[in-house]
Amino acid sequence: MQDLHNKRIVLGMSGGIACYKSADLVRRLVERGAHVDVVMTDAATRFITPVTMQAVSGHPVYTDQWDARIANNMPHIDVSRGADAILVAPASADFMAKLVHGRADDLLSLLCLARACPLLVAPAMNREMWLAAPTQRNVAQLRADGVSILGPGNGQQACGETGDGRMLEPMECVTELIAFFQPKPLKGKRVLITAGPTIEAIDPVRVITNRSSGKTGYALARAAWEAGAQVTLISGPTALDQPYGVTRTVVDSAQQMHDAVMAHVAQQDLFISVAAVADWRVANASSEKLKKDGKGAPNIEFAPNPDILATVAAMPNGPWCVGFAAETENLAQYAEEKRKRKGIAMLVGNLAQHVMDADHTTVSIFDDAGEHRLATSSKQDVARQLIEAIATRMPAVIR
Ligand code: CTP
Repeated sequence: MQDLHNKRIVLGMSGGIACYKSADLVRRLVERGAHVDVVMTDAATRFITPVTMQAVSGHPVYTDQWDARIANNMPHIDVSRGADAILVAPASADFMAKLVHGRADDLLSLLCLARACPLLVAPAMNREMWLAAPTQRNVAQLRADGVSILGPGNGQQACGETGDGRMLEPMECVTELIAFFQPKPLKGKRVLITAGPTIEAIDPVRVITNRSSGKTGYALARAAWEAGAQVTLISGPTALDQPYGVTRTVVDSAQQMHDAVMAHVAQQDLFISVAAVADWRVANASSEKLKKDGKGAPNIEFAPNPDILATVAAMPNGPWCVGFAAETENLAQYAEEKRKRKGIAMLVGNLAQHVMDADHTTVSIFDDAGEHRLATSSKQDVARQLIEAIATRMPAVIR
């Protein structure tokens, strides 16, 4: 998806073994439509060559403040003008110290000081260097100066030690950068989302489930995080990775999903119920595997599951609720009936046969003003539009 279409990014690289990740990072930025100009410190060129970075970015690499290729010989001004952001990845402890003090003795630090665009840095260093008091002071100062700090990650380090200080993985940097450019209508809000199918056991090896892939719910979780929210995702079993920045609890049955929602619902501002919750569970589920005993098909009895959305919507002082409905016919009529029955202000409806497991979707918003149809787009793009629509509809007291 061209999430960074038309964005001009200056990728700064200071010295560190994480420079090997920067080549992959540039490829992924370019894949998403960004124009990337790479600027490397002398130390960075010891870890990976400008030739590699030129090949992956498709543009000349800048390493020298006296670069005669720039007509006015002012690369520290020209390279960053017109840029939407400078991302320094990796940012060494030494480079962050230079930023804090406004030093400008090489092209990259000059460029950062003379910038007219936002600056993001992805620190990369040994865990003791990261925890060292001067580094922590510098990080705090950079934040106070309006610089965005991405990560660092935690785990095994090139030096053999384990802890905080790893540069974020390339895709994590890309996700952070995409989020950086998104509007923040849910800043500071707490959002609870259910997603995916539930599964109801018949016996220890057999289940009843549905075709929900979880993609729409996961896309909404990501979009809500991008919009500045603290997001908790309660998910049925899916093949999807945990969305970056989101806290996830995975459950099986509708009853487990209900219990997980109830455990998290206090303090939430918004509840988005996307999960395809089984309406019925098997009342006579067997604790042993059912055998073919010659008496024909087993007799499966059903008992109703709790309606999670209706329960949350009825809570006094509960979060503002948004429901979903996938129908195979009569969408407008069924969606509107469902919205009223569940007692919610907004419901998102779609035709199930068109969107199950697909990457694109067509949805309509149903609220007191009627039906508002969104254009067909990727589930992530639709999710962003829905988060914007939700944010404008949430009552001011919550917003
Ligand atoms: N939902 C829920 N708990 C249930 C059933 C549904 O929270 N036990 C939520 C879904 O997450 C969705 C909305 O209710 O947001 C509508 O779900 P849907 O299955 O379409 O509605 P039902 O009330 O089950 O109606 P029906 O199956 O008759 O279409």
